[in-house]
Amino acid sequence: MKSLEQVENFWNDNLCGQHFITARYPSEEFFSQYRNFRYTKTHHLDTYIDWKGAVDKDVLEIGLGVGADGTRWAEHARSYTGIDLTDEAVIATQKHLEVLGLPGQTRKGNAEALELPDDSFDIVYSHGVLHHTSNIEKTFDEVYRVLRPGGQFIVMLYCKHSFNYWIRIQTYFRIRFLWALCMSQIGGKPGSPWREHLANFREKGWSYFSWSEWPHHCTDGPDCEIANIYTPARIKAMLRRAGFTVKKTKQAHFPAGLSPGLERSLAAWIGFHHISWAVKS
Ligand SMILES: C[S@@+](CC[C@H](N)C(=O)[O-])C[C@H]1O[C@@H](n2cnc3c(N)ncnc32)[C@H](O)[C@@H]1O
Repeated sequence: MKSLEQVENFWNDNLCGQHFITARYPSEEFFSQYRNFRYTKTHHLDTYIDWKGAVDKDVLEIGLGVGADGTRWAEHARSYTGIDLTDEAVIATQKHLEVLGLPGQTRKGNAEALELPDDSFDIVYSHGVLHHTSNIEKTFDEVYRVLRPGGQFIVMLYCKHSFNYWIRIQTYFRIRFLWALCMSQIGGKPGSPWREHLANFREKGWSYFSWSEWPHHCTDGPDCEIANIYTPARIKAMLRRAGFTVKKTKQAHFPAGLSPGLERSLAAWIGFHHISWAVKS
């Protein structure tokens, strides 16, 4: 049984996105490079997310990483609150806000049991987070509870109807892993991440490579224990079960080094991310 403690330990050891940046963490240069990296690579966010429309809204963000999206919300919203399971992400986001002189508060918290009052936010935003938790349905109930009536839940989860799931993870990564396994039998020394996959495989056996287990280890690193990937229908069903009305969805993120417009067009069919805009009715 996978636990929230494993999730917390993994993300404390792997502050989200830090390894993409060369500048020293937590310098001003680090945060600047990170924002540049994020909104170049994940360019659809500035197109799809209406940061400016939050001018008269209280925003809660769940799952912070190094706080890039937090700074976007804090710049425009009436108020910004960020929570994360890990101390590392809370500290990083607070520093990021301070470096830019932006208002907002961050604190440690668990999306499955939010220590926040009912009906207290207009927008709850969570990008790439809730597929990592042990009980996503509990988190949807909690988001519903803390949103004001008419409030909006913007949530990005990994998408199963994607190039990432079928071609990259379940096909190419499997072949690549088996190749690394064969090479290691004749003395080869595979590099990262195949070295880590091999170590996990030797510890856990073929269950590590099973159809359902393997994808958990192929999005955010081999040692990530929980990374669920959902069909759009399943996401919609979970949101409806919690009481939400789904107003809009977008499939996004196809980082292939093409022009942003072309990437967004391809992503609409086979992108890695599924974003839902759901309303508390
Ligand atoms: C992949 S990072 C995403 C961070 C950021 N939203 C982004 O897009 O870069 C996932 C984050 O979710 C946090 N997280 C995972 N489960 C959580 C939970 N149950 N409650 C709060 N935060 C959680 C982790 O600590 C980690 O910082």
